[in-house]
Amino acid sequence: MSFTKTLIHGTNFDHKSLNALQKVTLRAVVMAFLFYGLVAIEGMIMRMVSIGPQAKAFMPEEFFHPDHFFSIMTVHPIVGIFGSTYQLVFAAFMFLVPYLTKKPLYSVKLANFVWLNITIGTALAWLAAFIWQYAPMYTLYWPLPADTTQFSTIGGIVFIIGIALIMIGTFGFIYNIYATIFARVGVHKNKTTKELLISGFGIDGLLNLINKLKGKEPYTKEPALALPVVAIFRGAVDTFLDALVILGAGILVLFI
Ligand code: HEM
Repeated sequence: MSFTKTLIHGTNFDHKSLNALQKVTLRAVVMAFLFYGLVAIEGMIMRMVSIGPQAKAFMPEEFFHPDHFFSIMTVHPIVGIFGSTYQLVFAAFMFLVPYLTKKPLYSVKLANFVWLNITIGTALAWLAAFIWQYAPMYTLYWPLPADTTQFSTIGGIVFIIGIALIMIGTFGFIYNIYATIFARVGVHKNKTTKELLISGFGIDGLLNLINKLKGKEPYTKEPALALPVVAIFRGAVDTFLDALVILGAGILVLFI
């Protein structure tokens, strides 16, 4: 009953009462959902085309050209992974880390920079496929995008700039998360960077176990960081390495 009521009348959501963190989170979430919509449309187009000539009755002839099909297939994962999934996950974590650590986000300005970079970057990559039919198959790894005989050079440059913006946004997100976690304010006022680092990698749990086996006092009774923050902390290390490789490969391709 109350579910139907909420569905019809909504909650008493008041957009004017949102704080800066809620606003920036919502901006990124809205962009992520819009990109998801785009991905779903692309996916449906590809699926219709793969049905074969029977689908020509429902679809413009243009969609069946290999150049068109492969440019969609190239940019579909970029929009899905970066524009939608990255953006949604980043927004959730930028909100969750301050919420769980009870500390303010390091920089709301940087959070705005992140969603703008990822949005503009994804749009540029999409335009490279849409306008120049750039289609080296969603990868930025060497050497496919450097093939300038098969693909338009300008399309490749726009695509790589788009990916580079996404990666710069990714670095911004990682910096914001780490700066928030390591800020020695609030509950972490008396913690050292070393203690936060040990907790971030979950080493305190291991030390507790070792101490227990040795019959010693636990390393710490209360971990400095909650388990979800530890997961985000470690995940950000992977994301950092990925971004480093992708950005590095993009720069190599641009200059070679
Ligand atoms: C409703 C949403 C979606 C639909 C209907 C959809 C549909 C499709 C279809 C039909 C293909 C296969 C194209 C082919 O090989 O003929 C495909 C490929 C793919 N999709 Fe999606 N997709 C959706 C969402 C996503 C999302 C959110 C992501 C990423 C997070 C994603 C990532 C991929 C990847 C990586 C491929 C492989 C591309 C390749 O082989 O080069 N898709 N999708």
